[in-house]
Amino acid sequence: MRVLTGLQPSGRLHLGNYFASIKQMVDEQNSGKSDMFMFIANYHAMTSVSDASTLRQSSIEAAAAFMALGIDPGKCTFWMQSDVKEVLELYWVLSQYTPMGLLERAHSYKDKVAKGIAASHGLFSYPVLMAADILLFSADVVPVGKDQIQHVEIARDVAIKFNNEHGEILRLPEHKVAESVAVVPGIDGAKMSKSYKNTIDIFCTQKELKKRTSSIVTDSTPLEEPKQWQSCNVYALAKLFLDEAGQAELRARYERGGEGYGHFKAYLAELVWEYFAPAREKYEYFMANQGEIKAILASGAAKAREVALPLIEQIRAKTGIY
Ligand code: ADP
Ligand code: TRP
Repeated sequence: MRVLTGLQPSGRLHLGNYFASIKQMVDEQNSGKSDMFMFIANYHAMTSVSDASTLRQSSIEAAAAFMALGIDPGKCTFWMQSDVKEVLELYWVLSQYTPMGLLERAHSYKDKVAKGIAASHGLFSYPVLMAADILLFSADVVPVGKDQIQHVEIARDVAIKFNNEHGEILRLPEHKVAESVAVVPGIDGAKMSKSYKNTIDIFCTQKELKKRTSSIVTDSTPLEEPKQWQSCNVYALAKLFLDEAGQAELRARYERGGEGYGHFKAYLAELVWEYFAPAREKYEYFMANQGEIKAILASGAAKAREVALPLIEQIRAKTGIY
């Protein structure tokens, strides 16, 4: 089974991204059960980043970050979207099979325009490029966040339209949303999200980490009294880093009293810092050796192209492209 997903390079990665999305893909990759295809969606990022050096930098940082967090180019196909240009060719071909109405109904487009982002053709046709990403590599399953489900459905609809005319050439993808993972709360207790500015970032400095954890909102139970771990944001975050025994121990500390939230916040900061220590080291290594990142991406792109070329040639033949 081929599992494919695109990773946006914009923005710094936070604990919500890690536990709800990255860790799950890494676990799936390591299970060896699926044929994993993952790429940095740098063409898609053009719809929100217009500065060249920012886009270039965040693309390379994203590649370093995902590899540092466990994406292993030896176990999956990992590349930079713009290194396989055939995706743009398929994007144009698929545009002929994409009714305007389908794109006009896209929530993501409507939301972005409602937020004041200029309604460019790039933003409008974003789902067609995403369909090309998915269909060019004959993906069976596409893990995405809830906001992207409709885009996978669009890819499916476009593939059906193409196949109706040309035969069963494009594989119909299914979306997959990781429902089982609880929402990771931010420092204010709402869903952790970069748009709410309530994140704890994975690759922040230790000083920043302490500052962020110490601003987590808690109640005002006095230090000596027992505390409610059930409703505590510090506990909800710490739990992600602890096994059963560690969680039980922390619950006991809450129930015992005699420790303030400051202690639990400091403990959380330590947990986060330790947990990501190996990833931080790898990230720094890659950022200091960017030639290595580029070589890895180039070989990933070559592997991806091997899959894409036979399909694109078949599509050229079917559509009459010289
Ligand atoms: P943000 O909300 O910070 O912009 P993204 O939309 O880039 O995050 O999220 C990328 C992925 O991580 C999606 O699959 C999304 O469902 C997941 N995710 C992000 N934040 C959280 C969270 N706080 N809890 C659970 N999942 C999250
Ligand atoms: N649009 C996706 C997002 O914002 C990223 C993406 C681009 C993608 N191409 C894809 C995801 C193909 C899955 C499959 O998260």
